[in-house]
Amino acid sequence: MNGKGQAATSDADGHTALVRYDSVSMTYPSRRGRPPLKALEPVDLSVERGEFICLVGPSGCGKTTLLKITAALLTPTQGSVLFKGTPLSEPNRAIGVMFQKPVLLPWRTVEKNAFLPAEIGGTMGPDTADRVAKVLSMVGLHDFATALPDQLSGGMQQRAALARTLVYEPELLLMDEPFGALDEFTREAMNLELSELTSHSGITSLFVTHNIPEAVFLADRVVVMSPRPGRVSGVVEVPFPKPRRVDFMRDPAFTDLTFEVRSILAEAEDKSRKAKETRP
Ligand SMILES: Nc1ncnc2c1ncn2[C@@H]1O[C@H](COP(=O)(O)OP(=O)(O)OP(=O)(O)O)[C@@H](O)[C@H]1O
Ligand SMILES: [Mg+2]
Repeated sequence: MNGKGQAATSDADGHTALVRYDSVSMTYPSRRGRPPLKALEPVDLSVERGEFICLVGPSGCGKTTLLKITAALLTPTQGSVLFKGTPLSEPNRAIGVMFQKPVLLPWRTVEKNAFLPAEIGGTMGPDTADRVAKVLSMVGLHDFATALPDQLSGGMQQRAALARTLVYEPELLLMDEPFGALDEFTREAMNLELSELTSHSGITSLFVTHNIPEAVFLADRVVVMSPRPGRVSGVVEVPFPKPRRVDFMRDPAFTDLTFEVRSILAEAEDKSRKAKETRP
């Protein structure tokens, strides 16, 4: 693997990265008199199976755009995304998505919200109820299966949304600032649970956050993006065992790593500002 976090699509043993971004760039077309907007410069990145990748970068640098491309909700203007070696062209059930807001249907109970993807996808089967019960238990909501979303706290609503995503046992979990609206204490508790859950299930995760300590706490690698148009400015490896415990945040290496991420961000911001100043 090189410093930009790239790996070969497949090696001599036929090993394939779970996701590979090959020169993925995105320009939104002009609309309502607004000029076209270049959101992403070519992004090259490989995500290995079981890895937890955190994406950090300034607001508007294209993080959500990259996640939407990975969910096949958007088609890149150039380049391609390979999922298990095959180009992604339509939403894939093996890829679960979770956004900042839990998007639960308010009139359905927690359990019925979790059933929703199977209902919509026409895949309700004899084992669906068992799977729903299992994931609600995994996220600590087994006692709230029959509660309505407005009877839950913000953190519990996010757990319900996570459960709904996990019902399908996705191989890849895309999370866009899922805990951004939560208070610090709840966010920390959610991070501990997420670290536990993802390391035990072996699920591969791509997690967007603005919070640098959160990124270092969760990630195997923190991918730092430049200001718009976003590209990969650097990758910081976090070679510590998972699941992580709270003490990890007391480790001097934790502080060093958050500084490393911060300095890559600052350097990229500086470069981008200078480039804008010298532009004719
Ligand atoms: N549908 C769209 N049409 C046109 N421009 C868009 C569209 N969606 C996003 N953009 C623009 O693309 C750029 C990247 O947006 P994106 O939402 O990916 O950023 P982000 O890194 O997720 O930002 P934030 O951290 O604030 O969530 C922004 O300048 C935004 O205005
Ligand atoms: Mg975003």
